[in-house]
Amino acid sequence: MSKEFKRTLITTALPYTNGPVHIGHLAGVYIPADIYARYLRLAGRPVTLIGGSDEHGVPITLKARAEGVTPQDIVDRYHTLIKKSFEELGISFDVYSRTTSETHHETASEFFRHLYDKGEFIEKTSEQLYDPQAGQFLADRYVTGECPNCHHQGAYGDQCEACGSSLNATDLINPRSAITGAVPELRSTKHWYLPLDKWEPALRKWILEDHTEWRSNVYGQCKSWLDGGLQPRAVSRDLSWGVPVPVEGAEGKVLYVWFDAPIGYISNTKEIFPDTWETWWKDPETRIINFIGKDNIVFHCIVFPAMLMAYGDNFQLPDNVPSNEFLNLEGDKISTSRNWAVWLHEYLADFPGKQDVLRYVLTANAPETKDNDFTWHDFQARNNNELAAILGNFINRVIVLTHKYYNGVVPAAGELQQIDRDVMAEMEQLKTSLTENLETFHFREALKDAMGFARAGNKYLQDCEPWKVIKTDPERVKTILNVCLQICASISVACEPFMPFTSATLASILGIEKLDWNMLAKDVIPAGRTIGEPKLLFDKIDDAAIAAQTERLERIKKENASKALDNFKPAPVQDQIEITDFEKLDIRVGTVLECERVPKANKLLKFMIDDGTGTPRPIVSGIAQHYAPEELVGKQVLFIANLAPAKIRGVLSQGMILSALNGDGSLTVAAPSAKASNGAQVK
Ligand code: 2FM
Ligand code: ZN
Repeated sequence: MSKEFKRTLITTALPYTNGPVHIGHLAGVYIPADIYARYLRLAGRPVTLIGGSDEHGVPITLKARAEGVTPQDIVDRYHTLIKKSFEELGISFDVYSRTTSETHHETASEFFRHLYDKGEFIEKTSEQLYDPQAGQFLADRYVTGECPNCHHQGAYGDQCEACGSSLNATDLINPRSAITGAVPELRSTKHWYLPLDKWEPALRKWILEDHTEWRSNVYGQCKSWLDGGLQPRAVSRDLSWGVPVPVEGAEGKVLYVWFDAPIGYISNTKEIFPDTWETWWKDPETRIINFIGKDNIVFHCIVFPAMLMAYGDNFQLPDNVPSNEFLNLEGDKISTSRNWAVWLHEYLADFPGKQDVLRYVLTANAPETKDNDFTWHDFQARNNNELAAILGNFINRVIVLTHKYYNGVVPAAGELQQIDRDVMAEMEQLKTSLTENLETFHFREALKDAMGFARAGNKYLQDCEPWKVIKTDPERVKTILNVCLQICASISVACEPFMPFTSATLASILGIEKLDWNMLAKDVIPAGRTIGEPKLLFDKIDDAAIAAQTERLERIKKENASKALDNFKPAPVQDQIEITDFEKLDIRVGTVLECERVPKANKLLKFMIDDGTGTPRPIVSGIAQHYAPEELVGKQVLFIANLAPAKIRGVLSQGMILSALNGDGSLTVAAPSAKASNGAQVK
């Protein structure tokens, strides 16, 4: 940070209220934002942490329709659930409001109207998809079809989740209404567009020149959008759920959810600071930081800033937009619709009192620079081997020894020895590194530094062996335990942003009333103070608790696979070919002689096939996730014999084994129905 700011406004992406929040949301946005806000508060710097629900958008109305309830019922249900579970996890929002609030509707309407009056929009009539059976236009997720880029079936009208590209509903191949399944027709309708191209030079300068310090994933995505050229973007939709477009002739139209949602940050600031909210948005001495997930980058770095620039009136742009990559769950993409997630409210019910364990694991494993995987095994190991064995163990030993030797009264330190000075110097270094990592949003590294205090303390205690020294030099033990208690105090400060519950318990045992960043690496517990009784900060998580979670996931996996098979719809038949095209393919029968995994490639198997020529033929095939190598040995398969040879991961492959792609994504190897001659051609 080159410039000095007076205050920091931290915003967190407003989650859609069409379902509960899961560990992916937490690791990507809410835990990092909370860590940063807590750190700034401890450092005595003015900060506001803004949160709230994003209650418009098509996923909400679709869910309401599926359940036969109103969209308001859906948002009320999930807003309440999400707000409560964030509170229980200790996310320290200064406000957690919602985009259905009156303040938000007024603020978003005024924002649109201001741009409209300034002539910042282009008004355009165009052909949009319309469902004649449902009698409505099909915006965004109301329409599904084939992605024009990757040909994934089931892409949405606004985005393809398979390749991540952002789409217009009219781009989809073979579109279908998500309401009735009808083939939509085109009808003309009027909408308002924000000409992003007008703001392109200003955005280029602001991001590509002035913010080279942004995370490379954010900077890179912005650069590729800007280099691709920006287009006007529609900011209204033909829908009934949302903020009505506040101009004449716009009946039946609402603001696009991505136009109104980021304005929610402003509305929510108004709710806590009705008189002074402008200081937080318009004073150049306010530093605005948007914590978001990577699928939100374009809206926060291109669209919302263009809206703010178009508005003018000194609205400030964010100084940084820290965005994480995605967290997977047990090797698979987290998905609300497939129920493939660890839901926060369920975690809180299954692991009462273990909020800090989840906060710790999700930070230690945060997808800061690349997608990462959450596994229950890793969760258990980090709790048992790090939190319980290092942090909990050190604190417990120090508190127990203080009670055992001094009835809980903090002993005075005598003359310091080199080992004491060394551990104090180490704490100073940890403080510097921890502060630097927090300032630059490197939370994984910062957590390592915070744990570094406990590691240093453990080593110091182990090296000093007060339980032995007490027999020969009891005076020296006073110094050792005094130093240990000061380390405990530093731990309670250093861990507060990451594990606020543990920090508070520890501070109360140590008799610290108010934690402060300046206490780090300092002597803050006076001799003569009576400290509290020891309390177990972390207990071990047993195998049964972990098995309950992994069994739940196994069950969900099976249910999803059977649903996918039931709902299987064959892909549309490809363009017609001539018989001569087919004749070019030389498909043959062969017997698998050998099969083994390709090292370091979890999808690949290497086969040796008896193709009747007498020389075994090597073929590499991407079916390792569907077959164990030994399963196919001795079996006959069909393969393409005249495919140009290729090296796959350095292994020669002369052909391709044919398989059927099933509805659940599994592959079934194609084989002759009865024994055939090796090398026989399939005609
Ligand atoms: O991706 C999402 O969940 C969006 N609801 C995030 C909105 S962020 C902001 F603009 F409100
Ligand atoms: Zn795609």
